[in-house]
Amino acid sequence: MRQAGRYLPEYRELRKKAGSFLDLCYTPDFAVEVTLQPLRRFPLDAAIIFSDILVIPHAMGQEVGFVEGKGPVLSPIRSEEELDALSSDGFTEHMDPVYRALRGVREELADDVALIGFAGAPWTIATYMIEGGSSRDYPNAKKWAITQPESFGRLISILENRIADHLIAQIEAGAQLVQIFDSWAGALPARFLTRYSVSPIARIASRVKAAAPDVPIIAFPRLSGPAYREFAALDSIDGISMDQSISPDWIRQEIQPLKTVQGNLDPAFLVAGDDGMERAARDILASLGKGPFIFNLGHGVVPQTPPEHVARLCEIVSEFGAAS
Ligand code: CP3
Repeated sequence: MRQAGRYLPEYRELRKKAGSFLDLCYTPDFAVEVTLQPLRRFPLDAAIIFSDILVIPHAMGQEVGFVEGKGPVLSPIRSEEELDALSSDGFTEHMDPVYRALRGVREELADDVALIGFAGAPWTIATYMIEGGSSRDYPNAKKWAITQPESFGRLISILENRIADHLIAQIEAGAQLVQIFDSWAGALPARFLTRYSVSPIARIASRVKAAAPDVPIIAFPRLSGPAYREFAALDSIDGISMDQSISPDWIRQEIQPLKTVQGNLDPAFLVAGDDGMERAARDILASLGKGPFIFNLGHGVVPQTPPEHVARLCEIVSEFGAAS
């Protein structure tokens, strides 16, 4: 689960030892260990490789750092000249530690545990590149898209190519499924959604499918509301990951007939635990558990989550699986 490690003491310890978040990402032994940490505690069905969506701008020469308590900080790209200064030379070499980590994880994982590779989608990565970090309103990214659609489109297209390359290389290194995170899809105005989220994801997925026809691809266009249907209609996508703002019944009716669904427990239930968590999880399972379904959260595990609650949630889901 994305950005998940932070709730585990063993993650925090290793992060301290590594020095920086990026050192954790680019040191294969560390990345393998962090990937496996939750698997050692819980009977999970899949592992997601430990990395981040921002390794892509970093590999293209943008300065990227992670500041404790603040999140990602990048040297913002706001002009054509800064866009021109990005380089795709040496991209694969830069990413080599990620691919080595995938190979290392696959060697250690049990055969029946799937290994998931991932990347951010162009729009979400672009928001970080342009705003220089997390943002509430994306003023610079949106202004660029509105006032200079041609050069903004160029950035999106460069990202599409690097994201597709990165996903294909992860598959070659052992990823058995890949997920594309468009965490800020919901911030796009409806008139831009197809152009900057649906279509780029469709083009990336088609390229990945051409290289690896049997590897499932999941899209996570978070907070895209009724437009989730547009993503579910894409031939090259196999699964749709849903955020917690959409009711399981709507998902069953609108999305599950078209695609495998992943989701969508609010991570807050995992913080709260007890009956509230149990009821919410059972409702999701009752609604979606009969169709093609991967139980998951609607967004990342938050650092305040007690690990015992994760253990309990695994039991609830396993009991449902065993009984159905
Ligand atoms: O969960 C995992 O450990 C799997 C690997 C993973 C990470 N990030 C590690 C991470 C994955 C799949 C991601 C995806 C990611 N990264 C997304 C898309 C998913 C989502 O959550 O919407 C986004 C938008 C990012 C960018 C990013 N990376 C942010 C905004 C932050 C800061 C988060 C915060 O609240 O401080 C990160 C850092 C990050 N990426 C951490 C981890 C484990 C935390 C680093 C730390 O503090 O030790």
